[in-house]
Amino acid sequence: MKYPEVAFEPFFSWVNRPRIMYSPGLRSEVGFEMAQLGGTKVVIYTDKGLVGAGVAQMVIDAVRNSELELVGVFDSILQDARIDIINDGARFYRENGADCLIALGGGSVMDTAKAVNILIGGGEDDFTPLAAQAALWDGAKQLPPHIAFPTTAGTGCEITNAMVVLDVDAHAKLSVTHPYCNSDIAMLDPELMVKLPAKITAFTGMDALTHAVEGTTSTSAQPISDALCLHAIRLIFKYLPLAVKEPENIDARGHMLLASCIAGMGFVNSLTGAVHALAHALGGKYGIPHGLANAILLPHVMDFNVSERPERFMMIADAMGIPVDGKDPEAAGRLAVQAVKDLLKEVGLTQTLKDFGVPADREALKPLVELAAGDGQISYNPRYCEEEDILNLYLNAL
Ligand SMILES: [Fe+2]
Repeated sequence: MKYPEVAFEPFFSWVNRPRIMYSPGLRSEVGFEMAQLGGTKVVIYTDKGLVGAGVAQMVIDAVRNSELELVGVFDSILQDARIDIINDGARFYRENGADCLIALGGGSVMDTAKAVNILIGGGEDDFTPLAAQAALWDGAKQLPPHIAFPTTAGTGCEITNAMVVLDVDAHAKLSVTHPYCNSDIAMLDPELMVKLPAKITAFTGMDALTHAVEGTTSTSAQPISDALCLHAIRLIFKYLPLAVKEPENIDARGHMLLASCIAGMGFVNSLTGAVHALAHALGGKYGIPHGLANAILLPHVMDFNVSERPERFMMIADAMGIPVDGKDPEAAGRLAVQAVKDLLKEVGLTQTLKDFGVPADREALKPLVELAAGDGQISYNPRYCEEEDILNLYLNAL
């Protein structure tokens, strides 16, 4: 396909901080790399699922085979980075005399570890997004050494400079963004992913796809993010079905880890759009896992957006492997929407919002609509979303 005329804002800045390392078996290098960062006594942040599946043990063994001293494993992290658990995690770090941390897990673990790191670096006990933002601006250079091992290929938050935390009392998700809101090194080891169940592989992969699609269509998209997001789409369309069908396929797992990381580098700079805004509201109110909410919403929001930036949707269709030469850009974009629907079926994601108790009632949906309308990501959606549009998108996804 010939590169079409695509517009972008005349000013943008680019953040690309964490070092990225990739290799099957890379965990064996963790002790050396942490020592290079100045860390000696480490806490591993993870969850009970990864402990039960033996994945945490793989990293514990790598730490024990190094000069690094393992002073604790904090495995109480639940779905979403909950503020109460973040505070517990920081207390655990201090009580065990740690001076560095490893995050081992998916988005919830990664974001919890980022928040703990900021609490430690800022010398605080109680996490609030505002205090975290202030601590980052004041003391970014005092943050403890931090290495992240993602065990899902979805969020990309091992490298993104943002985190989303859940305020359980307020039923709301809040985000913090700062160039130092991430790990020092993202260590991508696909061997840590082979135990990930098919369904989680599928919906976390759809989260990565949503980052790549929204990162391409966002009002802040620009040529660097385009390069990254479009390649992530190529990789996801090729390797996600394979990773779902063959969980021990290291090549497929590795490509998905890279796709998620590449999409993360792209979207964190170009930002996202209505899928994320609507999904954040669903996560806060109905507890729907982030990737799953994105997976359900993505085709509906794409369909809503295609007419606004058809040339960008044509590039997306091309990256998906759809022949688009000679086609009308909007028609090509509609084929991309259908390709996402087909992919969802292929990876076994057939649920709708109804399956999670979201009501098909305009009045009952109002609080959800208000939450989504107030989410910062909505302002980067390529097509302006009135509250009525948001309501209709939810209704379409039921
Ligand atoms: Fe996401």
